[in-house]
Amino acid sequence: MHQLNTFARISLSHSPTPLEKLPRLSAYLGVNIWVKRDDCTGLAGGGNKTRKLEFLMADAKQKGADTVVTVGGLQSNHARQTAAAAAKLELACELVLEDVKGVPQRDYYHNGNILLNQLCGAKIHRVAVQQSSEHVLAQVKADLISQGKIPYFIPLGGSNALGSLGYVNCVNEILSQSNAMNISFDQILLATGSAGTQAGILAGLIAQQQDIPVLGICVSRSGLAQQTLVEDLLKQTLTLMDIDDSHSVGKVKANGEYYGEGYGISTDKMVQALRLVAQLEGLFLDPVYTGKAMAGLIDLCQQGVIKLEQNILFVHTGGSQGLFAYSEVF
Ligand SMILES: Cc1ncc(COP(=O)(O)O)c(C=O)c1O
Repeated sequence: MHQLNTFARISLSHSPTPLEKLPRLSAYLGVNIWVKRDDCTGLAGGGNKTRKLEFLMADAKQKGADTVVTVGGLQSNHARQTAAAAAKLELACELVLEDVKGVPQRDYYHNGNILLNQLCGAKIHRVAVQQSSEHVLAQVKADLISQGKIPYFIPLGGSNALGSLGYVNCVNEILSQSNAMNISFDQILLATGSAGTQAGILAGLIAQQQDIPVLGICVSRSGLAQQTLVEDLLKQTLTLMDIDDSHSVGKVKANGEYYGEGYGISTDKMVQALRLVAQLEGLFLDPVYTGKAMAGLIDLCQQGVIKLEQNILFVHTGGSQGLFAYSEVF
Protein backbone atom coordinates (compact mmCIF):
# COMPACT_ATOMS: atom_id res chain seq x y z
CA MET A 1 0.00 0.00 0.00
CA HIS A 2 1.26 3.50 -0.84
CA GLN A 3 1.21 5.76 2.21
CA LEU A 4 -0.40 9.16 1.72
CA ASN A 5 2.88 10.97 2.25
CA THR A 6 4.29 9.37 -0.90
CA PHE A 7 2.01 11.63 -3.00
CA ALA A 8 2.96 15.24 -3.71
CA ARG A 9 0.79 17.63 -1.72
CA ILE A 10 0.68 21.37 -1.12
CA SER A 11 -0.79 22.38 2.21
CA LEU A 12 -3.84 24.63 1.64
CA SER A 13 -6.19 23.75 4.48
CA HIS A 14 -6.45 24.44 8.18
CA SER A 15 -6.33 20.92 9.48
CA PRO A 16 -7.26 18.98 11.46
CA THR A 17 -10.69 20.55 11.17
CA PRO A 18 -12.75 20.30 14.39
CA LEU A 19 -14.88 17.26 15.15
CA GLU A 20 -17.64 18.33 17.51
CA LYS A 21 -20.95 17.22 18.90
CA LEU A 22 -24.20 18.98 18.01
CA PRO A 23 -25.85 18.70 21.46
CA ARG A 24 -29.15 20.44 20.78
CA LEU A 25 -29.75 18.66 17.46
CA SER A 26 -28.83 15.37 19.18
CA ALA A 27 -31.38 16.01 21.94
CA TYR A 28 -34.01 16.97 19.33
CA LEU A 29 -33.49 13.76 17.33
CA GLY A 30 -32.60 11.36 20.16
CA VAL A 31 -29.52 10.35 18.16
CA ASN A 32 -25.94 11.44 18.91
CA ILE A 33 -24.95 13.69 16.02
CA TRP A 34 -21.34 14.70 15.57
CA VAL A 35 -20.03 16.92 12.84
CA LYS A 36 -16.67 16.97 11.05
CA ARG A 37 -16.24 20.66 10.32
CA ASP A 38 -14.84 20.58 6.81
CA ASP A 39 -16.69 23.83 6.25
CA CYS A 40 -13.69 25.14 8.24
CA THR A 41 -10.87 24.01 5.94
CA GLY A 42 -9.98 27.68 5.77
CA LEU A 43 -9.19 28.58 2.19
CA ALA A 44 -11.62 31.19 0.84
CA GLY A 45 -14.38 30.21 3.26
CA GLY A 46 -13.52 26.51 3.37
CA GLY A 47 -15.22 23.37 2.11
CA ASN A 48 -14.39 19.85 0.95
CA LYS A 49 -12.64 20.81 -2.28
CA THR A 50 -9.66 22.31 -0.48
CA ARG A 51 -8.48 18.88 0.67
CA LYS A 52 -8.70 17.54 -2.90
CA LEU A 53 -6.92 20.59 -4.27
CA GLU A 54 -3.91 19.95 -2.03
CA PHE A 55 -3.10 16.93 -4.22
CA LEU A 56 -4.39 18.30 -7.53
CA MET A 57 -2.54 21.60 -7.29
CA ALA A 58 0.68 19.81 -6.35
CA ASP A 59 0.27 17.73 -9.51
CA ALA A 60 -0.41 20.86 -11.59
CA LYS A 61 2.76 22.48 -10.26
CA GLN A 62 4.83 19.34 -10.84
CA LYS A 63 3.61 19.26 -14.44
CA GLY A 64 4.68 22.86 -14.98
CA ALA A 65 1.18 24.24 -15.50
CA ASP A 66 0.62 28.00 -15.43
CA THR A 67 -3.19 27.90 -15.66
CA VAL A 68 -5.79 25.67 -14.05
CA VAL A 69 -9.10 25.05 -15.76
CA THR A 70 -12.12 23.48 -14.15
CA VAL A 71 -15.86 23.05 -14.64
CA GLY A 72 -19.00 23.19 -12.51
CA GLY A 73 -22.41 24.70 -12.01
CA LEU A 74 -22.60 28.48 -11.86
CA GLN A 75 -22.59 28.45 -8.03
CA SER A 76 -19.93 25.75 -7.75
CA ASN A 77 -18.10 25.73 -4.40
CA HIS A 78 -15.37 23.73 -6.09
CA ALA A 79 -14.83 26.59 -8.55
CA ARG A 80 -14.50 29.09 -5.68
CA GLN A 81 -11.91 27.01 -3.86
CA THR A 82 -10.02 26.34 -7.09
CA ALA A 83 -9.96 30.06 -7.92
CA ALA A 84 -8.61 30.82 -4.44
CA ALA A 85 -5.98 28.05 -4.50
CA ALA A 86 -4.83 29.21 -7.93
CA ALA A 87 -4.49 32.79 -6.70
CA LYS A 88 -2.47 31.67 -3.70
CA LEU A 89 -0.17 29.51 -5.84
CA GLU A 90 0.36 32.11 -8.60
CA LEU A 91 -1.57 30.20 -11.24
CA ALA A 92 -4.14 31.68 -13.61
CA CYS A 93 -7.62 30.16 -13.31
CA GLU A 94 -10.33 29.72 -15.94
CA LEU A 95 -13.74 28.44 -14.90
CA VAL A 96 -16.31 26.93 -17.27
CA LEU A 97 -19.57 27.35 -15.36
CA GLU A 98 -22.91 26.00 -16.50
CA ASP A 99 -26.27 27.65 -15.92
CA VAL A 100 -28.56 25.41 -13.87
CA LYS A 101 -32.27 24.93 -14.59
CA GLY A 102 -34.88 25.72 -11.94
CA VAL A 103 -32.71 27.76 -9.56
CA PRO A 104 -33.66 31.09 -7.96
CA GLN A 105 -33.24 34.05 -10.25
CA ARG A 106 -32.59 37.13 -8.15
CA ASP A 107 -29.07 36.55 -6.84
CA TYR A 108 -27.90 33.35 -8.53
CA TYR A 109 -26.03 35.02 -11.37
CA HIS A 110 -23.99 37.59 -9.48
CA ASN A 111 -23.89 36.80 -5.75
CA GLY A 112 -22.55 33.93 -3.61
CA ASN A 113 -19.74 31.92 -5.15
CA ILE A 114 -19.78 33.76 -8.47
CA LEU A 115 -18.92 37.02 -6.71
CA LEU A 116 -16.11 35.33 -4.78
CA ASN A 117 -14.63 33.71 -7.93
CA GLN A 118 -14.42 37.14 -9.49
CA LEU A 119 -12.72 38.59 -6.41
CA CYS A 120 -10.03 35.89 -6.74
CA GLY A 121 -9.36 37.02 -10.31
CA ALA A 122 -10.66 33.91 -12.09
CA LYS A 123 -11.83 34.20 -15.70
CA ILE A 124 -15.37 32.89 -16.07
CA HIS A 125 -16.80 31.27 -19.21
CA ARG A 126 -20.53 30.99 -18.71
CA VAL A 127 -22.33 28.14 -20.45
CA ALA A 128 -26.06 28.54 -21.17
CA VAL A 129 -28.39 25.61 -20.39
CA GLN A 130 -28.78 24.78 -24.10
CA GLN A 131 -25.00 24.94 -24.79
CA SER A 132 -22.54 22.05 -24.39
CA SER A 133 -19.97 22.61 -21.65
CA GLU A 134 -17.64 20.03 -23.27
CA HIS A 135 -17.55 22.18 -26.37
CA VAL A 136 -16.79 25.38 -24.39
CA LEU A 137 -14.17 23.54 -22.36
CA ALA A 138 -12.43 22.19 -25.47
CA GLN A 139 -12.35 25.73 -26.88
CA VAL A 140 -10.92 27.19 -23.65
CA LYS A 141 -8.16 24.57 -23.59
CA ALA A 142 -7.36 25.08 -27.30
CA ASP A 143 -7.21 28.87 -26.85
CA LEU A 144 -4.85 28.58 -23.88
CA ILE A 145 -2.54 26.23 -25.77
CA SER A 146 -2.52 28.51 -28.82
CA GLN A 147 -1.46 31.38 -26.52
CA GLY A 148 1.52 29.28 -25.36
CA LYS A 149 -0.01 28.56 -21.92
CA ILE A 150 0.25 25.24 -20.08
CA PRO A 151 -3.23 24.39 -18.79
CA TYR A 152 -3.95 21.76 -16.14
CA PHE A 153 -7.48 20.41 -16.15
CA ILE A 154 -9.24 19.61 -12.88
CA PRO A 155 -12.39 17.50 -13.37
CA LEU A 156 -15.83 18.39 -12.00
CA GLY A 157 -15.66 18.62 -8.21
CA GLY A 158 -11.95 17.71 -8.22
CA SER A 159 -13.22 14.14 -8.33
CA ASN A 160 -10.57 11.84 -9.72
CA ALA A 161 -8.45 9.34 -7.81
CA LEU A 162 -5.79 11.92 -6.96
CA GLY A 163 -8.36 14.41 -5.63
CA SER A 164 -10.05 11.69 -3.57
CA LEU A 165 -6.82 11.28 -1.58
CA GLY A 166 -7.88 14.47 0.21
CA TYR A 167 -10.59 12.43 1.91
CA VAL A 168 -8.27 9.54 2.68
CA ASN A 169 -6.42 12.18 4.64
CA CYS A 170 -9.65 13.37 6.29
CA VAL A 171 -10.40 9.81 7.48
CA ASN A 172 -7.02 9.67 9.19
CA GLU A 173 -7.98 12.86 11.06
CA ILE A 174 -11.43 11.53 11.95
CA LEU A 175 -10.01 8.28 13.33
CA SER A 176 -7.39 9.97 15.45
CA GLN A 177 -9.94 12.50 16.77
CA SER A 178 -12.58 9.86 17.53
CA ASN A 179 -9.98 7.63 19.24
CA ALA A 180 -8.83 10.53 21.38
CA MET A 181 -12.47 11.33 22.27
CA ASN A 182 -13.28 7.67 22.82
CA ILE A 183 -16.24 7.62 20.41
CA SER A 184 -16.99 4.95 17.83
CA PHE A 185 -19.28 5.95 15.00
CA ASP A 186 -22.13 3.71 13.86
CA GLN A 187 -22.36 5.54 10.54
CA ILE A 188 -20.83 8.41 8.56
CA LEU A 189 -23.25 10.46 6.49
CA LEU A 190 -22.50 13.12 3.86
CA ALA A 191 -23.70 14.79 0.68
CA THR A 192 -22.48 13.04 -2.47
CA GLY A 193 -22.27 14.64 -5.91
CA SER A 194 -19.23 14.18 -8.12
CA ALA A 195 -18.33 11.29 -5.80
CA GLY A 196 -14.74 12.10 -4.73
CA THR A 197 -15.56 12.82 -1.10
CA GLN A 198 -17.43 9.57 -0.51
CA ALA A 199 -14.92 7.54 -2.54
CA GLY A 200 -12.03 9.08 -0.58
CA ILE A 201 -13.67 8.43 2.78
CA LEU A 202 -14.33 4.81 1.87
CA ALA A 203 -10.78 4.35 0.53
CA GLY A 204 -9.42 5.82 3.77
CA LEU A 205 -11.54 3.50 5.89
CA ILE A 206 -10.52 0.47 3.81
CA ALA A 207 -6.85 1.46 4.12
CA GLN A 208 -7.26 1.64 7.91
CA GLN A 209 -9.30 -1.61 7.99
CA GLN A 210 -12.26 0.16 9.53
CA ASP A 211 -15.75 -1.01 8.74
CA ILE A 212 -17.86 2.07 9.53
CA PRO A 213 -20.81 2.28 7.06
CA VAL A 214 -20.83 5.44 4.94
CA LEU A 215 -24.10 6.75 3.52
CA GLY A 216 -24.06 9.32 0.72
CA ILE A 217 -27.16 11.46 0.31
CA CYS A 218 -27.42 12.20 -3.42
CA VAL A 219 -27.69 15.77 -4.66
CA SER A 220 -28.22 15.15 -8.36
CA ARG A 221 -29.06 11.57 -9.31
CA SER A 222 -30.70 8.34 -8.16
CA GLY A 223 -29.14 6.22 -5.45
CA LEU A 224 -28.30 3.47 -7.93
CA ALA A 225 -26.61 5.77 -10.45
CA GLN A 226 -24.66 7.47 -7.65
CA GLN A 227 -23.56 4.14 -6.22
CA THR A 228 -22.05 3.17 -9.58
CA LEU A 229 -20.24 6.51 -9.85
CA VAL A 230 -18.79 6.29 -6.34
CA GLU A 231 -17.83 2.64 -6.74
CA ASP A 232 -15.90 3.31 -9.97
CA LEU A 233 -13.98 6.15 -8.35
CA LEU A 234 -13.40 4.13 -5.18
CA LYS A 235 -11.78 1.36 -7.27
CA GLN A 236 -9.56 3.90 -9.04
CA THR A 237 -8.56 5.45 -5.72
CA LEU A 238 -7.72 2.07 -4.18
CA THR A 239 -5.64 1.22 -7.26
CA LEU A 240 -3.75 4.52 -6.96
CA MET A 241 -3.02 3.62 -3.33
CA ASP A 242 -1.93 0.13 -4.40
CA ILE A 243 -4.76 -1.58 -2.51
CA ASP A 244 -6.71 -4.44 -4.09
CA ASP A 245 -9.86 -2.86 -5.57
CA SER A 246 -12.01 -5.87 -4.66
CA HIS A 247 -12.22 -4.30 -1.17
CA SER A 248 -14.77 -1.91 -2.69
CA VAL A 249 -17.42 -4.64 -3.05
CA GLY A 250 -20.59 -3.88 -1.10
CA LYS A 251 -19.19 -0.75 0.53
CA VAL A 252 -20.98 2.02 -1.37
CA LYS A 253 -24.39 3.14 -0.13
CA ALA A 254 -26.26 6.10 -1.61
CA ASN A 255 -29.77 7.38 -0.96
CA GLY A 256 -31.50 9.30 -3.77
CA GLU A 257 -34.64 10.29 -1.83
CA TYR A 258 -33.72 13.82 -0.87
CA TYR A 259 -32.52 15.80 -3.89
CA GLY A 260 -36.03 16.65 -5.07
CA GLU A 261 -36.44 17.78 -8.66
CA GLY A 262 -32.77 18.13 -9.41
CA TYR A 263 -29.34 19.58 -8.72
CA GLY A 264 -29.55 22.96 -7.03
CA ILE A 265 -33.36 22.99 -6.91
CA SER A 266 -34.63 23.75 -3.42
CA THR A 267 -36.79 21.35 -1.44
CA ASP A 268 -38.99 22.14 1.56
CA LYS A 269 -37.07 19.61 3.67
CA MET A 270 -33.76 21.30 2.80
CA VAL A 271 -35.12 24.70 3.89
CA GLN A 272 -36.48 23.22 7.15
CA ALA A 273 -33.23 21.36 7.90
CA LEU A 274 -31.11 24.41 7.24
CA ARG A 275 -33.26 26.59 9.53
CA LEU A 276 -33.37 23.94 12.25
CA VAL A 277 -29.59 23.50 12.39
CA ALA A 278 -29.00 27.27 12.30
CA GLN A 279 -31.52 27.80 15.12
CA LEU A 280 -30.41 24.90 17.32
CA GLU A 281 -26.67 25.04 16.74
CA GLY A 282 -25.76 28.35 15.09
CA LEU A 283 -24.35 26.26 12.23
CA PHE A 284 -24.91 27.17 8.59
CA LEU A 285 -25.42 24.48 5.99
CA ASP A 286 -25.79 25.13 2.25
CA PRO A 287 -28.83 24.87 -0.04
CA VAL A 288 -27.37 22.46 -2.65
CA TYR A 289 -25.45 19.80 -0.73
CA THR A 290 -25.29 19.80 3.06
CA GLY A 291 -28.85 21.13 3.49
CA LYS A 292 -30.22 18.19 1.49
CA ALA A 293 -27.90 15.73 3.26
CA MET A 294 -29.05 17.04 6.64
CA ALA A 295 -32.68 16.79 5.49
CA GLY A 296 -31.92 13.12 4.79
CA LEU A 297 -30.27 12.61 8.17
CA ILE A 298 -33.20 14.18 10.03
CA ASP A 299 -35.77 12.19 8.07
CA LEU A 300 -33.92 8.87 8.54
CA CYS A 301 -33.74 9.54 12.29
CA GLN A 302 -37.43 10.43 12.44
CA GLN A 303 -38.38 7.31 10.48
CA GLY A 304 -36.34 5.16 12.87
CA VAL A 305 -34.00 3.95 10.11
CA ILE A 306 -31.19 5.53 12.13
CA LYS A 307 -31.76 4.14 15.60
CA LEU A 308 -32.05 6.11 18.84
CA GLU A 309 -28.74 6.64 20.67
CA GLN A 310 -26.57 5.74 17.65
CA ASN A 311 -23.43 7.80 17.07
CA ILE A 312 -23.62 9.44 13.65
CA LEU A 313 -20.89 11.54 12.07
CA PHE A 314 -22.16 14.14 9.62
CA VAL A 315 -19.42 15.50 7.36
CA HIS A 316 -20.05 19.20 6.83
CA THR A 317 -18.55 19.68 3.39
CA GLY A 318 -19.06 23.48 3.33
CA GLY A 319 -20.89 25.59 0.77
CA SER A 320 -22.67 28.17 2.94
CA GLN A 321 -21.33 30.91 0.62
CA GLY A 322 -23.96 29.59 -1.82
CA LEU A 323 -26.71 30.71 0.59
CA PHE A 324 -26.32 34.25 -0.75
CA ALA A 325 -27.46 33.07 -4.16
CA TYR A 326 -30.62 31.59 -2.61
CA SER A 327 -31.86 34.44 -0.41
CA GLU A 328 -35.34 34.43 -1.96
CA VAL A 329 -35.82 30.75 -1.01
CA PHE A 330 -35.38 31.62 2.65
C1 LIG B 1 -20.58 21.92 -0.19
C2 LIG B 1 -20.39 20.66 -0.94
N1 LIG B 1 -20.73 19.51 -0.34
C3 LIG B 1 -20.61 18.33 -0.97
C4 LIG B 1 -20.15 18.26 -2.26
C5 LIG B 1 -20.11 16.93 -2.91
O1 LIG B 1 -18.82 16.37 -2.89
P1 LIG B 1 -18.37 15.42 -4.06
O2 LIG B 1 -18.51 16.23 -5.32
O3 LIG B 1 -16.98 15.07 -3.73
O4 LIG B 1 -19.28 14.26 -4.07
C6 LIG B 1 -19.77 19.43 -2.92
C7 LIG B 1 -19.29 19.35 -4.31
O5 LIG B 1 -19.28 20.24 -5.07
C8 LIG B 1 -19.89 20.66 -2.25
O6 LIG B 1 -19.56 21.82 -2.83
